Amino acid sequence: MTFDRGPLRGSVRVAGDKSISHRALMFAAVADGTSRISEPNRGADVISTRDAIVALGARVVDDGGATIEVTGGALHDPAGAIDAGNSGTTTRLMLGLCAGRGLNVTFDGDASLRRRPMERVARPLRALGATVTTTDGRLPASVRGILAPPGGTFALEIPSAQVKSAILLANLDATGPVRVTGDRFSRDHTERMLRRFGRTIRFDGETIELEPGRMRAQDVRVPADLSGAAFFLAAAATTPGSDLVLREVGVNPTRTGILDALLAMGADLEVFDRRDLDGEPVADIRVRYRPLEAVTLDGELVVRAIDEVTILAVVAAHAAGTTRIRDAADLRGKESDRLATIAETLRACGIAVVEHPDGLDITGGGARSPDRTLRTHEDHRIAMAIAALAAPTGPHTIDDPDCIAVSFPDFIALWRQAQAAGVPG
Ligand code: S3P
Repeated sequence: MTFDRGPLRGSVRVAGDKSISHRALMFAAVADGTSRISEPNRGADVISTRDAIVALGARVVDDGGATIEVTGGALHDPAGAIDAGNSGTTTRLMLGLCAGRGLNVTFDGDASLRRRPMERVARPLRALGATVTTTDGRLPASVRGILAPPGGTFALEIPSAQVKSAILLANLDATGPVRVTGDRFSRDHTERMLRRFGRTIRFDGETIELEPGRMRAQDVRVPADLSGAAFFLAAAATTPGSDLVLREVGVNPTRTGILDALLAMGADLEVFDRRDLDGEPVADIRVRYRPLEAVTLDGELVVRAIDEVTILAVVAAHAAGTTRIRDAADLRGKESDRLATIAETLRACGIAVVEHPDGLDITGGGARSPDRTLRTHEDHRIAMAIAALAAPTGPHTIDDPDCIAVSFPDFIALWRQAQAAGVPG
């Protein structure tokens, strides 16, 4: 499959937010009553979560349309192991959910998920009193949960929203208050969604505190995913002739590192019509081409752009000067080793990249169409990053377009639509 050169124009609503969709399904599965989740992400990862809650006894009505209906309540042990496919979020958050509800469950996944670290979640769940076994720190992993955990204080080892969320999900039935420390910047969708489902939860900038309580069913409309919009933003920002509007995009401040980075590089971005959508901030974003400059991306900004570092590396390939990315070692444990896979991709397109243990130096300019098929390493975000890389300097051919369906099944159709609107009529 080949991604073509060409500007992007018009207006696009990208796929629903993946992180928010996972959480809406999980919370609906344990809340009293029937929740309706509209515009959920329809990628394979979220389907893994939907199928996992069905296996645990939630009643789900889903005809593949705009809304998924979930009736929650008491969950039970599944008939067999839960296959989480490619989805780290399904695995890590559901390990937490099961650990605090007395459930006995084994999780497994595809070859990529079997390579990813699970002890970061297993350790705090053991501290809670659950029995968790991993296979050399990875999947398959099993949890034997406890009922009504006592609550208490948990210190995070790394600033990870998945680990933080696993701890909170494990403590939904806690009899006392739960405090989580050690993370100030990772995405806070779990905390916001807990509030929406009726829970009292506070964050003072250092410590999250969750009060004991119950969950009531909710209707939730899911914002468009900034992580999906990022590929469109990057391509339009780097391709002359582009003028694109992304609609109803989630602009939660814990996710907007990509916008801050693009603005720091000099991008022509306009974030307008900011509003609330069921507890999450959303906005429309207009982006036009303008020449960009290199920057340094590190620290808190990397945490707030954890899934966008690869696409920012693509933007850096078209910016004047050398962009330095640091504090991004965790990217080596994502769906692929993203520092290595994006470095390989950029080099194949003639761009100078120096790899460091926790980052990359990328010198912009000189990008060309590669003379061979680019490898996605079965990583959806690498495949979509290559589409963006092709917009100013393609065409680029990839080996595995199917992996895009993990988070964004309509990506290729929407991409073609935006590029067709960019062709002078
Ligand atoms: C996610 C958190 C991030 C992110 C992942 C989704 C979430 O992982 O990379 O794609 O939904 O909580 P970490 O929390 O491990 O950094």
